[in-house]
Amino acid sequence: MPERPYTLLSCGISIDGYLDRGTGERLILSNEADLDRVDEIRAGCDAIMVGAATIRHDNPRLLVRHPARVEQRAARGLRRSPVKVTLTRQGDLDPCADFFATGDSEKLVYCASDAVLSTRRRLGAAATVVDGGRPVDVRRMSEDLRTRGVRRLMVEGGGTVHTQFLTADLADELQLVVAPFFVGDSRASRFVGDGRFPFHPGRRARLAEVRPIGDVVLLRYALSSRFCLDLTEESA
Ligand SMILES: NC(=O)c1ccc[n+]([C@@H]2O[C@H](COP(=O)([O-])OP(=O)(O)OC[C@H]3O[C@@H](n4cnc5c(N)ncnc54)[C@H](OP(=O)(O)O)[C@@H]3O)[C@@H](O)[C@H]2O)c1
Repeated sequence: MPERPYTLLSCGISIDGYLDRGTGERLILSNEADLDRVDEIRAGCDAIMVGAATIRHDNPRLLVRHPARVEQRAARGLRRSPVKVTLTRQGDLDPCADFFATGDSEKLVYCASDAVLSTRRRLGAAATVVDGGRPVDVRRMSEDLRTRGVRRLMVEGGGTVHTQFLTADLADELQLVVAPFFVGDSRASRFVGDGRFPFHPGRRARLAEVRPIGDVVLLRYALSSRFCLDLTEESA
């Protein structure tokens, strides 16, 4: 089997399982303490991935914020923040978006084959555009990331991306944060869409940790046997 990075999915949802409002207006699910936890996880990863729609809707910077964590990365010979990764079919991405315009790390765009040339023209020097197949095959993309030195990948959504990593059985860990409110609007996006998931009523995932963080709760699920290995690495 070709190697792929240890892959951690990270997501915040409302009590009724939504990850946005469905209105275009940004939804804040985390609190400060949880954002700091996410910052720590980011600092320990080699790459962070979001789907192209998340770049368009949320304009995330995806940088490590805490100066001490930035320094620790520098002491390990790493860039201030992990490599940023996205995937796109149409290549409708703005090179001025914060994903591209902030941070000193490499930006990788896995693009559907037929849009590679136009996307390279649009993004110029802002990113490396990689031909990811048509549509982008997330398994092939994971293996390619590993050949580029990515050992630990954090996938931060949105739902389309989480669905593909889960249904392709490419996720080793899920960190799900539940915020204490309802969205109550079916126009909003769910954490995942339809699909055949490796965990279902006949095969339950292992709940490895439950941690209250202020008014939100972190549910940490072990999705593969690599989860234990990862815990060993974390405590080493
Ligand atoms: N609560 C949270 O933790 C959280 C985290 C992140 C995002 N969000 C929310 O999630 C929403 C966006 O989620 P989403 O599911 O609509 O979008 P998404 O997963 O962020 O991105 C989907 C887009 O990624 C590209 N894509 C996905 N799979 C692909 C493949 N196999 N091949 C080629 N391209 C592929 C396509 O881009 P193109 O359209 O460019 O072709 C697709 O439209 C936003 O409202 C955001 O606020 C919430």
